[in-house]
Amino acid sequence: MHPLEELRERALAQIASAADERALEAVRVQFLGRQGSVSQWGETMKTLPKEQKPIVGKLLNEVRQAITAAIEQRVEYFRAERESAAVASIDISLPGTQHERGSLHPLTQMLDRAIGIFRRMGFALAEGPDVETEWHCFDALNTPPDHPARNEQDTFFLPDGRVLRTHTSTVQIRSMESQRPPIRVIAPGAAFRRDEVDATHSAQFHQIEGLYVDEDVSVADLKGALEFFLHELFGADAAIRFRPHFFPFTEPSFEIDVKSKALKAGEKWIEVAGCGMVHPAVFEAVDKSRGDDAYNPEKWSGYAFGLGMDRLAMILFDVPDIRFFAQNDLRFLRQFA
Ligand code: PHE
Repeated sequence: MHPLEELRERALAQIASAADERALEAVRVQFLGRQGSVSQWGETMKTLPKEQKPIVGKLLNEVRQAITAAIEQRVEYFRAERESAAVASIDISLPGTQHERGSLHPLTQMLDRAIGIFRRMGFALAEGPDVETEWHCFDALNTPPDHPARNEQDTFFLPDGRVLRTHTSTVQIRSMESQRPPIRVIAPGAAFRRDEVDATHSAQFHQIEGLYVDEDVSVADLKGALEFFLHELFGADAAIRFRPHFFPFTEPSFEIDVKSKALKAGEKWIEVAGCGMVHPAVFEAVDKSRGDDAYNPEKWSGYAFGLGMDRLAMILFDVPDIRFFAQNDLRFLRQFA
């Protein structure tokens, strides 16, 4: 065996038995380093007779390549070993962490549908605060100080005299205070009353207020708009009725009932909205607060409505009790996912 071949065998044996990367690096320096055996053979070459040079040169090249390849393989082996050691502590057969997907609350789903229908009818969104002045909640809505709604028993008053709004009709006033007619808005939001809580009453509930002010608005426009909305929501065969009613801020006024099977009591008319033609006294109060005559009742007329969102959702989704909407019971909410 040529001494170079011996050198190769020694190198390969040492590479194979190098215990770790540091040992391997020492082997590399020993054979391939600038002072290493292979390099020294390069020097030795120069002293050889001419005819031996090509033969030994070829052999030297082969030996260098064999050692380099063996080192690379061993490096790769150590790298793979490090990686499998890193994942050895992970049990890949364990189930992963489940992340539950949330879903929209049924009231939100109901609201999205309602807004979609009203948008197609040309209504824009408006809003106002939950904590209101008595002016926006009552006075401007033609509701005098001795009206029962203003009673401590019926309304949540704050020490500073403001109230948790008893209806979203406050947004009628705010919208008219901030923009001139014509106006066509809806205002969804919470309302608060000291109601006896039962299957269809809750101290906090939700309404969608609507207001349309223009020239020559009539009861026919009001009825047409609300019938269209309710039929879009519940289907063309939904049974709907308008009943005469009284609200201080509309004249004439109506309540709207929808026939529903949602309640445990069976098929029943459920009141879902109050509505009517905007009372001239409301326009006058708005003009007083604006300091102009933008809403002169001689020129402008309008209709307004307040839909009970929770009631609509009960009918739409067959929910027998209004309290389910606020109890946060996942068994209930999952049914709407
Ligand atoms: N604000 C009334 C209520 O909460 C509903 C309503 C709104 C009636 C607009 C007429 C016009 O009962």
